[in-house]
Amino acid sequence: MKPWVAGIDPYVPGKARLADRPVVARLASNENPFGPSPHAIAAMQAALTDSHRYPDPASTALREALGAHHGIDPARIICGTGSDEILHLAAGAFAGPGDEIIHVRHGFAVYDIATRRVGATPVVVPDRDWTCDVDAVLAAVTERTRVVFLANPNNPTGTIISAAEVRRLHAGLPTDCVFVLDAAYAEFAEGLYEDGIGLANEHANVVAVRTFSKLYGLAAQRIGWAYAQGALIDAMHRIRAPFNVPTTGQAAAIAAIADQAWAEKTRAHTLQWRAWLAGEIAALGNAGLRAVPSAANFVLVEFPADGPVTAAAANTALLADGILTRYLAVQNMPNCIRISIGTEAETRAAAASLRAFVEAATGTKAA
Ligand SMILES: Cc1ncc(COP(=O)(O)O)c(C=O)c1O
Repeated sequence: MKPWVAGIDPYVPGKARLADRPVVARLASNENPFGPSPHAIAAMQAALTDSHRYPDPASTALREALGAHHGIDPARIICGTGSDEILHLAAGAFAGPGDEIIHVRHGFAVYDIATRRVGATPVVVPDRDWTCDVDAVLAAVTERTRVVFLANPNNPTGTIISAAEVRRLHAGLPTDCVFVLDAAYAEFAEGLYEDGIGLANEHANVVAVRTFSKLYGLAAQRIGWAYAQGALIDAMHRIRAPFNVPTTGQAAAIAAIADQAWAEKTRAHTLQWRAWLAGEIAALGNAGLRAVPSAANFVLVEFPADGPVTAAAANTALLADGILTRYLAVQNMPNCIRISIGTEAETRAAAASLRAFVEAATGTKAA
């Protein structure tokens, strides 16, 4: 094994099932609890009959639909096998051995994997209260920096930096450093975000990355995309797999874009229940729990490091109730649990389980 591959900590996915009991709530992977638009399901069913044919290697119709929806040039769009592939393409096209790639300490786990996979060196920048510290990122830039990955909103913290801060970060980067702005959760950010499309229009070193896995509920179809100026798109096309988005995924994504009412239902539900869940966690504040303000479709809950109410103990209690959330010890966040916003019943079940755990552990009734 190559030494840089040996240095990779394998990605640990969120739990999807339990060996010994039924799952009550599946809140570990920031999925859409309502599933895809019925029109997307119909489009996938229709596309199944073409399964003996390779997919359109250029995702032409999907890029045209994206271009029309976002008001951008389809020729400057690249589609990927999930946005995961796009992140790997960015690392592979713009960095290699001897180069550095920056990401924040509590960022998306794939950035480190994508960096090491191509033999580049990850430069991990401390954040401030779970939020990207733009000054710290800029201070970490060297003449070897080739890529900066930033998820905004960030996963697993849910934090966001303002459009002005995103632009300040970009303005401080050398022009030969590619700024990859990963906006997987952009639609949940209530207008606070800079999704990168404007920046990519203005600057030749910006890759704006989006996904159909979250708002559009198409995680299983693996459809991501990026928008950037021609030279960057050309470089990423050279190294992508030729038939990287399945026919069903391309058809589903086109139908999903056309059904904005379905997307809006998910968005509105997510904002409503995210606020509700944050309130439920705030009510457990006396026991030391804190909901980190979130701009995404999940809430990060911070627990005391010791005492009766730790994240590890809460995780055990949630699992005993059949509730799957993301215990973040695997990401060096042993005091944190991330709870995706599910259906009303799932979200209520998670809050009730957490409350029952806290009350039992502290021997007091919560507020
Ligand atoms: C910040 C961020 N970027 C990218 C992805 C990858 O999503 P996908 O490959 O499903 O498009 C995720 C998935 O959780 C994410 O949280």
